[in-house]
Amino acid sequence: MPRFYVTTPIYYVNDAPHVGHAYTTVNADALARWHRLVGDEVFFLTGTDEHGAKVAEAAAEHGMSPQEWADTVVQRFLGAWRDLDIANDDFIRTTEPRHHHAVQAFLQRIYDNGYIRLDTYTGLYCVSCEDYYTPEQLVDGKCPIHGRPVVEMEEENYFFELSRFEDRLLRWYEENPDAIRPATKRNEALSFVKGGLKDISITRTSMHWGVPVPWDERHVFYVWYDALINYLTAVGYGADEERWRLWWPAVHHLIGKEIVRFHCVWWPAMCMAAGVDPPAHVFVHGWLLVGGQKLSKTLVRQQADSADADDADDAADATDAADRPVRLTEIAPQALTEDFGVDATRYHLLRDVPFGTDGDFSYEGLVSRYNADLANNLGNLVARVATVVGSKCGGIGPAPDPESALAEVAGDVVSSAADAWARIAPHEALEQTWRLIGAANAALEAAEPWKAEPGPAVDAVLGDALEVLRLVSLLVSPAMPATSTEIWRRIGLDGGPQDRRLPADAAWGGYPGGVPVEKGEPLFPRRKA
Ligand code: MSP
Repeated sequence: MPRFYVTTPIYYVNDAPHVGHAYTTVNADALARWHRLVGDEVFFLTGTDEHGAKVAEAAAEHGMSPQEWADTVVQRFLGAWRDLDIANDDFIRTTEPRHHHAVQAFLQRIYDNGYIRLDTYTGLYCVSCEDYYTPEQLVDGKCPIHGRPVVEMEEENYFFELSRFEDRLLRWYEENPDAIRPATKRNEALSFVKGGLKDISITRTSMHWGVPVPWDERHVFYVWYDALINYLTAVGYGADEERWRLWWPAVHHLIGKEIVRFHCVWWPAMCMAAGVDPPAHVFVHGWLLVGGQKLSKTLVRQQADSADADDADDAADATDAADRPVRLTEIAPQALTEDFGVDATRYHLLRDVPFGTDGDFSYEGLVSRYNADLANNLGNLVARVATVVGSKCGGIGPAPDPESALAEVAGDVVSSAADAWARIAPHEALEQTWRLIGAANAALEAAEPWKAEPGPAVDAVLGDALEVLRLVSLLVSPAMPATSTEIWRRIGLDGGPQDRRLPADAAWGGYPGGVPVEKGEPLFPRRKA
């Protein structure tokens, strides 16, 4: 059975989850669900990055120990993923003993292999990035990403001799042209390496919130150096040889564009140094950017309204914030799910921002996508079919016509959607699926069964539409699990789409007919713009 191992970055617990985090996690979840549907053995990993100066700083600001702080914030991530119906197989926290153990085993191997040396480091450090910058990289003397002042640090550090991996990395990119996608990001990594690699400092003595260095207890590992190894920890590196070799290196790392260097340069080099194969796939996505002003006003207010009474300061801040453009990091995933529902939020994140490029995120965009695709198309098809089956077929769904013209569209949609999911292009997979919904709505409008006398012609049209609903339910199940199960149930089928296997169960004609069809409440009531 093919295996599919997919990961999200592990999120820093310095602050609460926001829709940018939800974007990656929902995409990973949909991909994992798709691969389960096609019968792959799936392992979907997400988790939290709990060490480092940024987390220690946030903890101190809140008068807590870093561990207490991490224990508190991790609950918000777990809650957000529960709300969004994320079905991860494991959740890793870097403060867990299993992770400390794997990090120490992995880095000891690199040390024993002679790629780590002791030296003194002086540099300009941005605590938000947990990264050093050269003076040339700064913008107006500040961090180019966060715009906050950098601090000059001098430490005795252990260094990973990254510079010794230039040739090996270049060869790796060359021999594995698809390892880093899209190609623009592969080229970015390639030119970074061609520009010359410096050795990197991988330990700290100035702080203690990290994984202890096994050969020198005065040091802890630098947060990025421990974080990357989570992908190996979770499959049992250093603990269960047989298991991790089953899943590694055929992993798919999904990452945001600002962490390419860590995943596409450092991480493969670290793996090579430890005698482990580099990850097979790194897929880089863009950022969600906030567009319309209305988004800020509505959603920030909503967050303020739902803030706890003792969070009065935060609530006031949030209300003031309604007058300035909102940052994406201020939008909690919950603000969207409460307003639009879980599946509509998931659909929007998957459909509107092509995975791989930046995308505009706006309240207006959300509403118009919701109305067009969910209320007018999918919701309408479900409601219409059930109503007419009620009035013309006594509520019993007829079987589809094996020769239906829709069969051809369906076959084409199923294979192009499958191809798109396999290429990590959920927006295309959904676009294809909506082509089938559109075709079924058009066929109904052309035949107008609601005006016709009951009989074989009406049965055939409705049977076809029910078959389309069965197929659509299968195809959208990775994106909208609850909705697809509900459609499945309403059209009288047993179990759920998740219990089916593609492509076999997506062949035209699977709807049995002769089963009760239920009308139910509108799935996606229309929203005011
Ligand atoms: N802890 C590191 C990752 C370590 S992985 C071994 C980290 N954490 S993070 O919480 O800052 O960011 C995690 C991910 O969230 C990144 O991939 C980042 O791109 C993503 N996003 C943060 N803001 C985002 C948007 N506005 N849009 C899309 N993704 C965004 O980096």
